[in-house]
Amino acid sequence: MRVSIIGGSGYAGGELLRLLLFHPKVEIGQVTSESSAGKYVHTRHPNLRGVTELKYSPMATLEPCDLLFVALPHGEAMKRIDTLAGLAPRIVDLSADFRLRRNEDYVTWYEHPHSSPEWLARFVYGLPELNREAICNARYVSGVGCNATATNLAIWPLFAQDVADRERGVIVELKAGSSEGGAQAGPASHHPDRSNAVRSFAPVGHRHTAEVLQALRAIGEEPPVHMSVTSIENVRGVLATAHAFVRPELRDGFALKHLWQVYRASYGEEPFVRLIRERQGVYRFPEPKILAGSNYADVGFDYDERTGRIVAICAIDNLMKGAAGTAVQCMNLMMGWDERAGLGFPGLHPV
Ligand SMILES: NC(=O)c1ccc[n+]([C@@H]2O[C@H](COP(=O)([O-])OP(=O)(O)OC[C@H]3O[C@@H](n4cnc5c(N)ncnc54)[C@H](OP(=O)(O)O)[C@@H]3O)[C@@H](O)[C@H]2O)c1
Repeated sequence: MRVSIIGGSGYAGGELLRLLLFHPKVEIGQVTSESSAGKYVHTRHPNLRGVTELKYSPMATLEPCDLLFVALPHGEAMKRIDTLAGLAPRIVDLSADFRLRRNEDYVTWYEHPHSSPEWLARFVYGLPELNREAICNARYVSGVGCNATATNLAIWPLFAQDVADRERGVIVELKAGSSEGGAQAGPASHHPDRSNAVRSFAPVGHRHTAEVLQALRAIGEEPPVHMSVTSIENVRGVLATAHAFVRPELRDGFALKHLWQVYRASYGEEPFVRLIRERQGVYRFPEPKILAGSNYADVGFDYDERTGRIVAICAIDNLMKGAAGTAVQCMNLMMGWDERAGLGFPGLHPV
């Protein structure tokens, strides 16, 4: 199958390239960049030197293909979606442009109405662990927000299985690496300012909150969700630490073993979710460091019997499970292929 990548000079596009070059079922047609048109892709992604002779094309020269990955900044795909849909029968868009189903959510969280709202209902939210069946039957799939993915995977079982107190809701602290911001340099990525940073990026109002609320709404839940994002030193990786409280009716006798049951019931069969809650050792809980380059989401938990507080933790690589990896997983599902195809890399240790 022939796939093309729009926005292949960026970080998410680079990860798509790395994955698709080794995917057993696809060949890459074109890869676009306006700023690097005519240059080899390894000029932007030096890890691909010697792996491919592909060169960047400008978007205007795109030819029809079987599936189009779109990895442009927010707002760019929505304004040209009719043209893009004319080029390929299937699209996976990694931006936020088609993640939300309600136009009013774009006004609330992105501060502008959607420019092609008629397309919102045609896209399926591309997180396989929550939406597998719909993705299998979809032609148009949206990517996922990386912070939303870490949060959704951490807290989803607690609400889906009616364990968390929905009145009290959930508070989520996210620690995020610098590649979340993309390849374009800005004042916040200037080395003296970014290095060693532990910086409150979005104490309130982070846009990915909309995706978490939407996922909970889909199962009839509307608990208050409070998210705060802190920028940290890492280049890759997100760690979500979520705090919820066990429902008062369940509190008597509730213990850690019940959380094991809850998370196993939700994720026991998931190919890319690992449950991590060891009693001993260094890596007792999920940690993004060992996930760099891998599509795994590591999910862990703990329980404070004294207060009834559940701590749910999820670590991912933002460019993989939080972007390109999940996008390839979605393509595999859309095509009826093995969901794991092209996604076998387990990460590195030590790293
Ligand atoms: N970074 C993450 O962790 C992450 C996670 C999940 C989802 N995403 C989403 O994935 C998308 C790409 O993110 P990224 O981090 O890869 O961004 P990025 O590194 O800044 O890359 C953006 C890409 O879009 C192209 N581009 C920028 N403005 C354009 C325009 N006006 N017209 C045409 N092409 C344009 C750039 O090509 P040129 O060479 O021409 O500049 C580049 O290839 C975003 O929507 C982001 O929200 C990112």
